[in-house]
Amino acid sequence: DISVITIDGPSGSGKGTVATLLARQLGWNFLDSGALYRILALAAQKHGIALDDEERLAVLAARLDVRFGAEGEGKGAAILLEGDDVSEAIRNESVGAGASRVAALPAIRAALLQRQKDFRQAPGLVADGRDMGTVVFADARLKIFLTASAEERARRRFLQLKAKGDDVNLASLIDEIRARDERDTQRAVAPLKPAGDAVLLDSTALSIEQVLASILSEAAS
Ligand code: CDP
Repeated sequence: DISVITIDGPSGSGKGTVATLLARQLGWNFLDSGALYRILALAAQKHGIALDDEERLAVLAARLDVRFGAEGEGKGAAILLEGDDVSEAIRNESVGAGASRVAALPAIRAALLQRQKDFRQAPGLVADGRDMGTVVFADARLKIFLTASAEERARRRFLQLKAKGDDVNLASLIDEIRARDERDTQRAVAPLKPAGDAVLLDSTALSIEQVLASILSEAAS
């Protein structure tokens, strides 16, 4: 029985960074489930499929030719869609918005379910997403629900974007974060919520290192 640690939470809670570091530290496999929804949104764009065409999207999802490569120098794993490296292309805002639309369709979630479960391989798996602990790996040995206040999550985003040289406005980022929270928690299928047996961790006043240390101590207990 291969161990799984799930890390779920809202946009900007730091779960992507924490999950990546945790997997690296443990020497375990890593599933970035959000990337799958992003890749699907990008593939739909590429093949001219509308983001509300559930039937065609489900066929696309079932056949999706995606590969996760090895981690490069100081970079995350390369993500290949139909042979092309889309690691950067899937990170843009419009693809993120598309991902949250396709993620609300039940047939899409069903079509991607087994693909996510297949990441459970020895010696273990760290899975990052919204429904890792509630749906995909409901039997995980440790479930973390990572949150932070909307203001703090927007502030982190603001610093990230500013470092990239983007022209950003903190007030509008707070509004966007709230809108995304609303969409993710209110949708009918697999809404964002902590599993009944999840450990709640509020990262508002914590550094990445502190969050990581606290998850490692939970894992060891
Ligand atoms: O970190 P961020 O929220 O920007 O993006 P992400 O984790 O890559 O997820 C992109 C979108 O996919 C989110 O808005 C979610 O609605 C959706 N998603 C999901 O529904 N279920 C998951 N397990 C992961 C992501």
